[in-house]
Amino acid sequence: MQKFDQLIQEAQARIAASGSLVALDEVRVHYLGKKGVLTEQLKALGALPASERPAAGQQTNQAKHAVTAMLDARRRELEAQTLSAQLTAATVDVTLPGRGQEPGGLHPVTQILERVQALFASLGFGVEEGPEIEDEFHNFDALNFKPGHPARAEMDTFYLKDWPLLLRTHTSPVQVRALLKHGAPLRIIAPGRTFRHDYDVTHTPMFHQVEGLLVDKEVSMAHLRGVLTDFLQRFFERDDLRLRFRPSYFPFVEPGAEVDINCIFCDGAGCRVCKHSGWLEVLGCGLVHPNVLDACRVDPRRYSGWAFGVGIERLGMLRYGISDIRMNFENDLRFLRQFR
Ligand code: DAH
Repeated sequence: MQKFDQLIQEAQARIAASGSLVALDEVRVHYLGKKGVLTEQLKALGALPASERPAAGQQTNQAKHAVTAMLDARRRELEAQTLSAQLTAATVDVTLPGRGQEPGGLHPVTQILERVQALFASLGFGVEEGPEIEDEFHNFDALNFKPGHPARAEMDTFYLKDWPLLLRTHTSPVQVRALLKHGAPLRIIAPGRTFRHDYDVTHTPMFHQVEGLLVDKEVSMAHLRGVLTDFLQRFFERDDLRLRFRPSYFPFVEPGAEVDINCIFCDGAGCRVCKHSGWLEVLGCGLVHPNVLDACRVDPRRYSGWAFGVGIERLGMLRYGISDIRMNFENDLRFLRQFR
């Protein structure tokens, strides 16, 4: 009995004196480890005469439970101390201003694309897409570009090594793909990236266009004019916006026209943006050439159509007053943040 009381007292003192979890574990091993004092005691029970065994066993077990309980209590104490020491060390200054959150935003080009898409969706136009890597057939031949005609060379085309592949120079080839796929009648717009070998304040080698195409019976220039007027007035949010159709040449339309709007910066009085003409050029359009309908297996005697192509960056520059097209692609946050 006495021997165990002494052992427990001694253990109590050693446990209380352990200043760390590591030191405490050494004490545990000393008493309860494989070769610990109490473990050895339990093993030794077998050597006792049978009459003494139960009492001795009971005492040894009691001592073991007592030591285990003291070890557990001290471990919890030490753990609590470690935690509170960590908490005091890691002070949080609750008066510091928060880091704040920077909301992201859509790129201005994306915003314009979505706006154009929404306006044409309200007129029942579906969205069609085509590949950025095109071939000569869709980009030129089917669009009535004759071999050797200067219009073909004027496109500043990026040709790929594997002829007849190229980076599409406009979204007009999607007219061909859509007609071959769906046939007439058809009413679509085709937004996407286009590529030309050109670089200055109004040109980047990659830019975006939206193509519009309507093929049906008895489609006329008057219809085209009506739709474009409605589109541009709604796009620029000006009911009084005026359109001017200037005859122009594109191989895939006849007649072809370029459309100007009265300058939204000076209202026609003349300024730097409109080069003192009072007009801004916004898009190209016309009635689909019968040769194009033929190439797309649509009978030009039964159907006619109109088409237009508009530069998205150009629309953005006019709507937001951006003076250099290249700003769109420089990823300067000071520029991009203005469109959030
Ligand atoms: N594809 C022409 C270009 O990139 C733009 C264009 C003009 C598209 C007239 C048309 C059109 O659909 O009818 O310069």
